[in-house]
Amino acid sequence: MRKITLGKTGIEISVLGLGTMYFGSKLDERTSFRLMDLYQEHGGNFLDSANKYASWLPGCKGGESEMLIGRWLKRKGRAADLVVATKVGFPYGDVPRSLKKEIIISECELSLQRLGVECIDLYFAHAYDSETPIEESMEAFYQLKKAGKIRHVGASNFLAWRLEEANSQATSKDWEGFCCLQQRYTYLEPSIRAEFGNQQVLTPGEVDFCREREISLMAYSPLLGGIYGKQKAALPLQYQSLANEQKMASLRALTSKTPFTANQLVLSWMLHSSPQVIPLVTGSNEKQLNENLESVSISLTSEDMNLLDGPLVEPNTY
Ligand SMILES: NC(=O)c1ccc[n+]([C@@H]2O[C@H](COP(=O)([O-])OP(=O)(O)OC[C@H]3O[C@@H](n4cnc5c(N)ncnc54)[C@H](OP(=O)(O)O)[C@@H]3O)[C@@H](O)[C@H]2O)c1
Repeated sequence: MRKITLGKTGIEISVLGLGTMYFGSKLDERTSFRLMDLYQEHGGNFLDSANKYASWLPGCKGGESEMLIGRWLKRKGRAADLVVATKVGFPYGDVPRSLKKEIIISECELSLQRLGVECIDLYFAHAYDSETPIEESMEAFYQLKKAGKIRHVGASNFLAWRLEEANSQATSKDWEGFCCLQQRYTYLEPSIRAEFGNQQVLTPGEVDFCREREISLMAYSPLLGGIYGKQKAALPLQYQSLANEQKMASLRALTSKTPFTANQLVLSWMLHSSPQVIPLVTGSNEKQLNENLESVSISLTSEDMNLLDGPLVEPNTY
């Protein structure tokens, strides 16, 4: 699998990341291990987790995904050679939603223990915290980096101007800023007033901002829970629009003239976009993950991309 540089860090990560949200919870250990093995067999090297995964499931309290990864890394030993990302900032158990220094430091210790590693390669602020000065959070990340507990920091569910504010603060103090932005992103476009709660959708403005600042982009929920492969399933309410009906028609047209599935074309479209967005793929079983991983070998022509990206209404000519 091809690799891409993570922001300005010099770290090379594969063009598809592996989302591990339900590993060790909804997906049992055997299945989760097999999916990670499969991802590695395809040349993947980037695992995405979070301290709170998957605390919202019955019988879970958070940390299940990190502990599962920890057990898998132990079995693999040095052969694992992966870039592991996890996150802090959303609430779970007794931990509040917060990017306060004490929370970042204490949650990092817990994540290190659960993952069984000495250093987290990429530590994400999972969501913006309006209660805590961003300088305090950036200082906490700086201290963790100085102590060798994290290598780099990323932001998730941040608006571009918040990210700029954080990085300006960090740079002025000679601390490291966020090297990547992880947002909700897929082929379909949400309606302008669609609500996603705590989740932040990647906007064209953010894409432009990240391109200018050489900040990598990662997409979570790239397949909308598998909706593209379901012939008769209704689109989620936030995505119901005329524009998306047209986009689905374009996707179906390309699916019928190529040997690829709609899920694969959506992932490939993301990989062909500029700047390139790194989709976090996953699956409930080997078949799904295989299908998703095989999208890296698809070559879309500019005609294909035009079909998928074509405007709904012709632009003004004046
Ligand atoms: N930063 C954040 O706030 C945030 C938020 C959410 C997720 N994430 C990260 O992003 C990762 C991916 O998110 P997601 O799970 O929402 O991604 P998604 O791609 O939208 O949905 C994944 C689900 O879609 C179905 N699916 C996947 N591939 C399929 C295929 N080829 N055919 C049919 N169905 C398929 C499976 O569900 P079924 O088998 O149940 O149908 C699978 O569990 C997570 O693991 C996590 O690491 C981050």
